[in-house]
Amino acid sequence: MNWDDTTDGAAAERLVDTAADREDQAVEAALRPKDLGEFIGQEKVREQLDLVLRAARARGATADHVLLSGAPGLGKTTLSMIIAAEMGAPIRITSGPAIQHAGDLAAILSSLQEGEVLFLDEIHRMSRPAEEMLYMAMEDFRVDVIVGKGPGATAIPLELPPFTLVGATTRAGLLPPPLRDRFGFTAHMEFYEPRELQRVVHRSAALLDVEIDPSGAAEIAGRSRGTPRIANRLLRRVRDYAQVKADGLITEDIAAAALAVYEVDERGLDRLDRGVLEALLKLFGGGPVGLSTLAVAVGEERETVEEVAEPFLVREGLLARTPRGRVATPAAWNHLGLTPPQRPATGNGQQDLFGA
Ligand SMILES: Nc1ncnc2c1ncn2[C@@H]1O[C@H](COP(=O)(O)OP(=O)(O)OP(=O)(O)O)[C@@H](O)[C@H]1O
Ligand SMILES: [Mg+2]
Repeated sequence: MNWDDTTDGAAAERLVDTAADREDQAVEAALRPKDLGEFIGQEKVREQLDLVLRAARARGATADHVLLSGAPGLGKTTLSMIIAAEMGAPIRITSGPAIQHAGDLAAILSSLQEGEVLFLDEIHRMSRPAEEMLYMAMEDFRVDVIVGKGPGATAIPLELPPFTLVGATTRAGLLPPPLRDRFGFTAHMEFYEPRELQRVVHRSAALLDVEIDPSGAAEIAGRSRGTPRIANRLLRRVRDYAQVKADGLITEDIAAAALAVYEVDERGLDRLDRGVLEALLKLFGGGPVGLSTLAVAVGEERETVEEVAEPFLVREGLLARTPRGRVATPAAWNHLGLTPPQRPATGNGQQDLFGA
């Protein structure tokens, strides 16, 4: 456990967290598809990107700048490496937070080789001055290096070799339009369908030398929240269970039993998610209830409930955020196997419940 972590206990140890932990980082390199053909799902993105890269190759040119946007764990870093591999180009990897000053960026840009892919992860977190330098670099393959300070400062223009910028962001909405507009192609990555994740699980199992049958892979896929990173992580935990408690083969029953131990349910909800839903249903009759009250009821920080648990519950159509508070949907009652209280058709749910 990392005590420097800013998130609190319940959130930090989650098996269904979308961010990569240390173990993920160690294995992900081995599990990354190496070319577009191996990349599962994201049909549209793959087809479009294939055209962009093929055309550039045919022209003998450097590919246009590419922006990859999408939630964590959907394959942005993987695609950036595939772009470089498909272009037969080297790749340089850096990230927005690593570029504090425009000078940091100038140093990287001026050392690029012709045709090189520059992968700028978390591009929305770059500093303003660096961002402005990047505009010019992307458009004109040129940067102005400022020498000196104050009135005597001079800008020395520096030619750059043509390169391909691949930017990745989980928050495309935060990118300033001038930056967004300078990308020739933007790929929006969607959450994966269960049958696509099933293929991801099969592929990873083969690479990890784990035996799994189709029903086992389907069981893991269904609990992976549309995210390959989570699918790969659940696969590793199920593998451990199959090794210790069975003969190593992952079947539907083994996967279900293993993930019950880790408290990840059939729909991918974990203890925190279920705690929030249960409080909403059992203590507040399905709402509406205020966020703070709900947080106190589950013994978590407001932020944990709002930023860690709720986005997935909302995406799954189990919870709605309304101006009057959090409300459970019929699907939530159904998922927890509970019956919603009878309410008069025209009445106000909360007032009825509390008799006010
Ligand atoms: N389409 C895919 N097919 C097979 N495996 C995939 C696919 N997409 C992602 N993965 C796997 O999921 C893991 C996470 O992918 P990746 O690191 O590329 O996500 P990311 O979008 O860069 O996440 P983050 O926003 O956290 O940086 C990788 O190990 C990769 O093997
Ligand atoms: Mg990444």
